[in-house]
Order: sequence, then C-alpha cells, then structure tokens
Amino acid sequence: MKIAIGSDHVGYRLKMEITEYLKSLNHVVKDFGTDNEERTDYPIYAKRVGKAVASGGYDCGILICGTGVGMSIAANKINGIRAVACSEPYSAMLSKRHNNTNILTLGARVVGTELAKMIVDMWLNASYEGGRHQARLDMIRELECENQL
Ligand code: RB5
Repeated sequence: MKIAIGSDHVGYRLKMEITEYLKSLNHVVKDFGTDNEERTDYPIYAKRVGKAVASGGYDCGILICGTGVGMSIAANKINGIRAVACSEPYSAMLSKRHNNTNILTLGARVVGTELAKMIVDMWLNASYEGGRHQARLDMIRELECENQL
C-alpha cells in the first residue's frame, strides 16, 4: 500500500519506528514531517497527510501525536477524511470494516511500540464491508456538503 505518515514532535519517535515497520512489510511510505523532536503543532501534519489522502494520492494515512486526539480532530476537518484515534486493535479493525476509515491516529504517550504495530496491522488488514454501512457514510458525506454552505 501507499501510506502517508506524519507526526508532531511527541509522536516523532514512534512514527520512525512505525515507518520502519511498514517498510519491512513492503509498504511504500511517504513521511510528511515533522523531522525532529523540536516543538511544533500537530494540525500542520494533519493537514498535509489529510489532504494527501483525500486527494487520492495515497491509500491511507497514519498520524501520531501525544494522544492521537488532536490529530484525529484536525484530520476530520478535511472533506473525505474519516480518521480514527485508536489505542487498541478491536476499534481499529471495526473502524475500517464499518466506517471505512482512511486515517489512523495513534498516541505516542498512550501506546507502546508493539501495541502500536498490532493496531496498525489490524487496521491495514481489515476491509470495508459496505452494505448497510454505506448509507451511514453517505449521511456523513451529506454533512460535509452542508458545512460547505
Ligand atoms: C503536544 O503536547 C500534544 O498536545 C499533542 O501531541 C497531542 O497529544 C494533541 O492531541
């Protein structure tokens, strides 16, 4: 898969570990920053990765901050993005099956590296089920259109 990844300073180290892990699984990973542990602002990277995914250039995105919360709030402001903040694999899997999430956000202060890898695995390997869930996603899409008015 072609995966866009980004983090703020708090998520930087975990991002590098997850990037290495994804590459070891033969995924193509593009890092949208940040590039070090100097203090920065998570919406910058949520915007970069969110736009890259929403425009169709990537299969999905992964964003990492302290809790995953700020990244998910920011990414979900972008039309077409369905971001989920996960700290356990079950929700990650169901978020793909039912909500067709296209960005996973993780909290570097919440999960360790091995749990983060497990969450990423469950998320990447799950598939959207469509069917009854599609009408709900269509309703979310309508909300996005209303917000443009
Ligand atoms: C930065 O201190 C922290 O607020 C950020 O990494 C993230 O957790 C926000 O949701």
